[in-house]
Parts: sequence; C-alpha cells; structure tokens
Amino acid sequence: MKIVLFGPPGAGKGTQAKSICNKFSIPHISTGDILRKHIAEKTPLGIEAKKKIDSGQFVSDEAAIQIAEERLKQDDCYNGFLLDGFPRTVIQAEALEEFLNKKDQKLDTALLIEVPKEFIIERMSGRRVCLSCGASYHIKFNPPMFEGKCDVCGSEIMQRKDDEEATVRERLEIYDRQTQPLIEYYKSKDLLSVVDGTKAINDVFINICEILGSAINK
Ligand code: AP5
Repeated sequence: MKIVLFGPPGAGKGTQAKSICNKFSIPHISTGDILRKHIAEKTPLGIEAKKKIDSGQFVSDEAAIQIAEERLKQDDCYNGFLLDGFPRTVIQAEALEEFLNKKDQKLDTALLIEVPKEFIIERMSGRRVCLSCGASYHIKFNPPMFEGKCDVCGSEIMQRKDDEEATVRERLEIYDRQTQPLIEYYKSKDLLSVVDGTKAINDVFINICEILGSAINK
C-alpha cells in the first residue's frame, strides 16, 4: 500500500497512521516527526525548522521535499509506505508524483481525515506527546495508563509548543490556504478518499480499513 494521509492539524493523522502501518506492515513516514528529530539534534535544518514550527508556519517546500524523498529512497519503502503530513502543498504533491513516476510507482490513495475546526482546538489542547519516543496521547480521549507517563517508554509526556491555542489557529489558517487545494488535486487524479474523523478513534480506524480495502481492489 502506498498511502498519503492528510487533513488539518489534530485530525488524528498520527494516531491513525500508527494503526494503519501496523495492520499493513508499512513504514510510517511523518515529516513532522523527522523535523522534530532534527530540532532535538540541533542540525542546521532543525535550527531553521524550529522557528517555523513553533510559530505554526510550514518549512519550505524544498526542505520538506528533500526529507521526504530521502526517506522514500530507503529499501523498506519499496513495497509500500504511509506518508503522514507530506505532501502539504500542491508543489510537494507534484514533486511526489514525479518522484514515484521515475520509479514506475503510483499512490493507491490520498486519504483525507476530515474534522471541522470546532473539534480541533479541544483535541490540540488535550494532546500530550512523549519527547523521547514520539507517542501521542490525549488527556480525555486517549489517556496514558499512568498520568503524565508514556505507555511505550515511561518518559514524561508534555504539550507541544505548537499546540498552544494561538498557534493552532495560525496552523488552521495555513492549512486552509496551502493544504486544502490538495483535495481538488487528488480528486482530479481519482485518488482522493475521505474519512469522517469526528468519530471515536477505533471507529475512524474501522472506516479507514474499509476504505483502504476498496483502494487495494480498485
Ligand atoms: P505535524 O507533526 O505533521 O503536525 P500536523 O499535521 O499539524 O498534525 P498534528 O501532529 O498536529 O496532528 P495529527 O493529525 O497527527 O493528530 P494526532 O493524531 O496527534 O507537523 C508539525 C509541523 O511541521 C507543521 O506545522 C509544519 O510546520 C512542519 N511540517 C511538517 N511536514 C511539513 C511539510 N510537508 N511541509 C512543510 N512543513 C511541514 O491527534 C491530535 C490529538 O487528538 C491527540 O491528542 C489524539 O489523541 C486526539 N485524537 C486523535 N483522533 C481522535 C478522535 N477520533 N477522537 C478524539 N480524539 C482524537
């Protein structure tokens, strides 16, 4: 399966990506996670990206395309992958298409997790993430077993700086301007599928599995 997963910040991309990748045994490629790793390691890209991410802005298309392509060139992506948070602009989508064309490959689907704005702020304010292993929780909808501790590695879990309300509002505006056009882009290529992301986490996953089952048989 070769999947692009997109949707507004807080739609549940990271949450669903983990379950999809386990089920289909494909690597989860999150450009957000890769950028946060660069930030933690204080690489030149990380230092530049931190300013952008903390203020809710996108990194440049050039940087995003470079990190996505570097990861896609690795052997474990040959039979499939899930891209989470890439592409985020039409320029990035065109670059991805060109990259795959050169390898005689194509996407199976571009899956949009649709969640209206009014749900997003509550989700983001309650999100807690593990800075060690990247696991993500929600204090109400998906709490860890022990308060404040990661189920996976036991480290402390915290709020992401870009989850503060003002930054989330900025991210939503940028999503509308820069990422929404991907809906038409993938519709025109007959690759778009849409799941209602307002349901409970497990129900969203069940619907996604149905959609991906039909995409395989297309
Ligand atoms: P990234 O980390 O990709 O952020 P994002 O796309 O804004 O998405 P989020 O991680 O915030 O949300 P999500 O949809 O994964 O939701 P989650 O599953 O955690 O990117 C960060 C930044 O990096 C960007 O802003 C940008 O600056 C930069 N960047 C990355 N890629 C780039 C690119 N290609 N080009 C340019 N810049 C790029 O869920 C959210 C919360 O809700 C959690 O607490 C979860 O437990 C809860 N939840 C999930 N599903 C449900 C549900 N169904 N019901 C109730 N709660 C739920």
